[in-house]
Amino acid sequence: MGAFDRKTTAEQVSEGADLAGKHAIVTGANTGIGLETSRVLALRGARVTMACRNLEKARAAREGLITRGAAPDALVLAELDLASLASVRRFADETLATERPIDLLVNNAGVMLPDRRETSDGFEAHLGVNHLGHFLLTNLLLDRVRASAPARVVVVASDAMHFAALGPELEDLNWEKRKFSGWRSYGSSKLMNLIFSDELTRRLEGQGVVAHALHPGIVQTELARDQPWWMLAVGVALRPLSKDCERGAATTMFAATAPELGAQGGGYFSDCAPARRPKLADDAETAARLWDRSRDLVGL
Ligand SMILES: NC(=O)c1ccc[n+]([C@@H]2O[C@H](COP(=O)([O-])OP(=O)(O)OC[C@H]3O[C@@H](n4cnc5c(N)ncnc54)[C@H](OP(=O)(O)O)[C@@H]3O)[C@@H](O)[C@H]2O)c1
Repeated sequence: MGAFDRKTTAEQVSEGADLAGKHAIVTGANTGIGLETSRVLALRGARVTMACRNLEKARAAREGLITRGAAPDALVLAELDLASLASVRRFADETLATERPIDLLVNNAGVMLPDRRETSDGFEAHLGVNHLGHFLLTNLLLDRVRASAPARVVVVASDAMHFAALGPELEDLNWEKRKFSGWRSYGSSKLMNLIFSDELTRRLEGQGVVAHALHPGIVQTELARDQPWWMLAVGVALRPLSKDCERGAATTMFAATAPELGAQGGGYFSDCAPARRPKLADDAETAARLWDRSRDLVGL
C-alpha cells in the first residue's frame, strides 16, 4: 500500500491484475463510477454483469464501452432495481440459475436525495436503495460467492458517513419520527454500508471471502442530479477538488484487485489508502443489531 494517491486512475491501480475467467457483478453500472469500474474490470479480463435498473440506459452504456474497445462478450446486462425487493429477488434468482461463479460483487449503486422518498416497499430511499437493497442482494448471492472463494465484496460507501444521524440504538431508520435531512439520511445509509461490510467480513471469516468498503472521493458523476440548484452550485465550487470517473473508480478497483487486500477484509479506503472511520462503525453490538434489523426488514 502507499504507491497510489488521489490522482491514480482505475486502470493504473489495477495494472497487472489478471481477471480472466472471473465473473464480477457491478450494481449501478450504467453511469458514473460503476460504468468506469465495469470498463476496467472488463479490460482486466473479467466477465462483468452490469446490474442496472433501466435497461435502455444500460444498453446505451454497454454500447459506449464497446465503442471504446471493450469486448462485447465481457459485458452482460441484467435488470436490478434496488428500490424493489421483488426485483432484487428476481435478479438473484436469474443470477443463481446461470451457475456462474461470483468472484467479485461490487455494491456500487446509490442515490443522494434532497427530500424523503420511498421505495416500492415503503422504505425511505437512502435506507432502501443504498443499504437494504444491497443487503438483500448480497445475502441472496452469498452461498455462490462463498463457493467461488477466493472472492470479494466491495461496498462503495462515502465519507458522508461522518454526517450520519445514526445512533447505536438504530432508532427510526426509516425517518418517520424525525425531521428529514437528505444529507444526514444519505450519510446514515453510507455508514450502514461500512458497518455491513465489516459485519460481512466477520461472518465470513475463514471462508475465503473478504469485504472492503471505500470512499471514492468527490467524483464528477450524476449523483447530485436530484439536488436543488444551490447544492449543484456547491458541486461547482468543489470541482477543483473533484475527480473524473477514471480516478473516481480507482479506489473501487484497488479494493477489488489489490493482492494485499485479499486475505484480510474489513478495510475502509479513500484515495487507495486506509481512511478515517466513524466510532460507531467499530461498535460490534451496533453491527449485529443492524444486521438483524435489516434481515427482518427485507424478510430474510
Ligand atoms: N460521486 C461522488 O462524489 C460520490 C462520493 C461518495 C460516494 N459515492 C457513491 O458512489 C456510488 C456510485 O455513485 P455515482 O457517483 O457514480 O453516481 P451516479 O452517476 O448517479 O450513478 C449511480 C448509479 O446507481 C444507479 N441506481 C440508482 N438507484 C438505483 C436503483 N434503485 N437500483 C439500481 N441502480 C440504481 C443509477 O442508475 P440510473 O442511472 O438508472 O439512475 C446509476 O447507475 C454511490 O453509491 C454513491 O453513494 C459517490
